[in-house]
Amino acid sequence: MQQFDQDRVSLKPDRKDGAFSVLQITDTHLFGKPGSTLVGIDTRKSLLAVVAAVKEQGIPFDFIVTTGDLSQDYTLESYIAFRDIMRAFSEPVFFLPGNHDDGPLMYREMAGLGISAARNIIIGKWQFVLLNTQVYNNPMGWILPEQLAYLEGCLEERPDLYTAVCLHHNPFEVKCLWLDAHVLKNRDDLISLVSRYPRVRLVLCGHVHQEHDFIQNGVRYISSPSTSIQFAPLCDRFTLDALGPGWRYLKFTPDGGISTTVHRLAGGEFLPDFTVGGY
Ligand SMILES: [Fe+2]
Repeated sequence: MQQFDQDRVSLKPDRKDGAFSVLQITDTHLFGKPGSTLVGIDTRKSLLAVVAAVKEQGIPFDFIVTTGDLSQDYTLESYIAFRDIMRAFSEPVFFLPGNHDDGPLMYREMAGLGISAARNIIIGKWQFVLLNTQVYNNPMGWILPEQLAYLEGCLEERPDLYTAVCLHHNPFEVKCLWLDAHVLKNRDDLISLVSRYPRVRLVLCGHVHQEHDFIQNGVRYISSPSTSIQFAPLCDRFTLDALGPGWRYLKFTPDGGISTTVHRLAGGEFLPDFTVGGY
């Protein structure tokens, strides 16, 4: 119970009507060493450009959720770089690990870097539950029973709240064979749990470096562009997209409503090396 309480953060919606907004930043793929590139893109520079564009837009949001692959090299220095760049924001930043992260290191060190390791965020009529689907040293996603139990505990404890489940791996196929090979493999375990709680309204993920947004059995499933490289949709083999680095805003209303928009930097400024066949 002690652990559960440390895991929980309560925020107050900024707006009087109880609506609030969230900025999703995902798949930053930072390196410990400045100037390092991922498939030709300096990922620190692309994240800095995204942060500058978000600031420039001036669209208000209550907190930031980052949905994994913050690092590309598993180093503490890459997480320090993430912290340093995200210091541009005064809003709270939350995280969960992706397959390119060192999850145990993140849970051990992020709080010390000033980034909350809370996994349950309560705000207005909503709660967010941040889950770990990382399989150490393997790109595929798998959700352990303890993670499902954590989600179930949050759902049981606050049946009055609408719920957004956040995780790295997509629990749906994106029709890219190479990406679908490391989908959330036991997604049926998650989906069957979620189906028992009609107030779960959103499953939000990263990992696929492309946009998806659909509703299935009353639950909205959303993925978002990366702040680094973009993967082209509907390709059987690793294929990069020329679209610019992106981010997503989500607005939540007290009646369970969700609206969302994706934003990107103009194409051309951060083009990957299209000759590379993988990463
Ligand atoms: Fe990624």
